[in-house]
Amino acid sequence: MLYDNHNRPIQYLRLAVTDRCNLRCFYCMPEKGIKYLPKHQLLTYEEMERICRILAEMGVSKVRITGGEPFVRNGLMDFMRTLHAIPGITELAMTTNGVLTAPHIGELVQLGVKSVNLSLDTLNRDRFYQITRRDELPAVLNTLDALLEAGVAVKINAVVMEGKNTDDLGPLAELSRHSGVSVRFIEEMPFNGEGSHYPVLHWTHRRILNELQSLYPGLHKIQDGPFSTSYDYQIPGYAGNVGIIAAFSRTFCGTCNRIRLTAQGTLKTCLYDNGVLDVRALLRAGATDTDVRAAFLKAFAHRPANGFEAEEKRGAVTESMSTIGG
Ligand code: 5AD
Ligand code: SF4
Repeated sequence: MLYDNHNRPIQYLRLAVTDRCNLRCFYCMPEKGIKYLPKHQLLTYEEMERICRILAEMGVSKVRITGGEPFVRNGLMDFMRTLHAIPGITELAMTTNGVLTAPHIGELVQLGVKSVNLSLDTLNRDRFYQITRRDELPAVLNTLDALLEAGVAVKINAVVMEGKNTDDLGPLAELSRHSGVSVRFIEEMPFNGEGSHYPVLHWTHRRILNELQSLYPGLHKIQDGPFSTSYDYQIPGYAGNVGIIAAFSRTFCGTCNRIRLTAQGTLKTCLYDNGVLDVRALLRAGATDTDVRAAFLKAFAHRPANGFEAEEKRGAVTESMSTIGG
């Protein structure tokens, strides 16, 4: 087992395989997109595999593939197969926007991917277009159906945005009526690639909860998963559940078991830190596995206690979520 300086186990790597995306969700990217990294600044699949192997030897057992949109990078499924073969990685997961995902679901299941997080903020086609600036709702819904049909556990990630999709809380929650879907409502974070900040967060986890309670008076708390960032609830008689992720209020840092690797190979030990280790530079300078392991251990021994401490050290976050990987 691997522990940080606050005695939290580190078991879970979120690996961004690209900073590119085929959507332009306004809370993540400006309309014209962000300046994408040139290819040589991205980690190669070989480098990612090596990092995952080293981390697996150190105690990381779960890897979530994120982006950008993972399926925008060529060769993703081949890479997933190499990850699947690494001893010690017992859980492979993925976060996707669902636009290009459907044809790969059979293979994902074969690779043991049991859970997929789907980013979906509305079921209304016009609003989907307003939020993502692309008309791809039908493709995403097709992916949702295909995932459920294949028996994959689906978590829907919906960012709650003032003036954009607050009428969608009920319709999205309804997705949990007949299937085991977990619909998670996320506080919006100011990671939109433009460095814009809100004087106040309109939709805090409390307000989201109040809204859900007024829609569903019988809503009751259920047990949260271990190390989960979401507070889970169930609507009586519904097959799935709903959850709230206090991503901006950061109330879950005490049990955080995750680290992140950005597409350019920067280690983040907190979503709100500025990157604490340039793993790409280390690898390309010829570091041995022992060197890399030592550098990781040093970073894990200096992990901020929570997202506020991490943010204080760096100043406000300005990058796009697409480069961080969520
Ligand atoms: N605030 C909150 N959540 C965000 N995501 C992307 N950008 C933001 C943001 N600014 C979410 C997406 C995706 C997950 C990885 O992060 O909904 O599902
Ligand atoms: Fe793409 Fe996800 Fe960012 Fe939307 S939130 S633009 S789907 S990376």
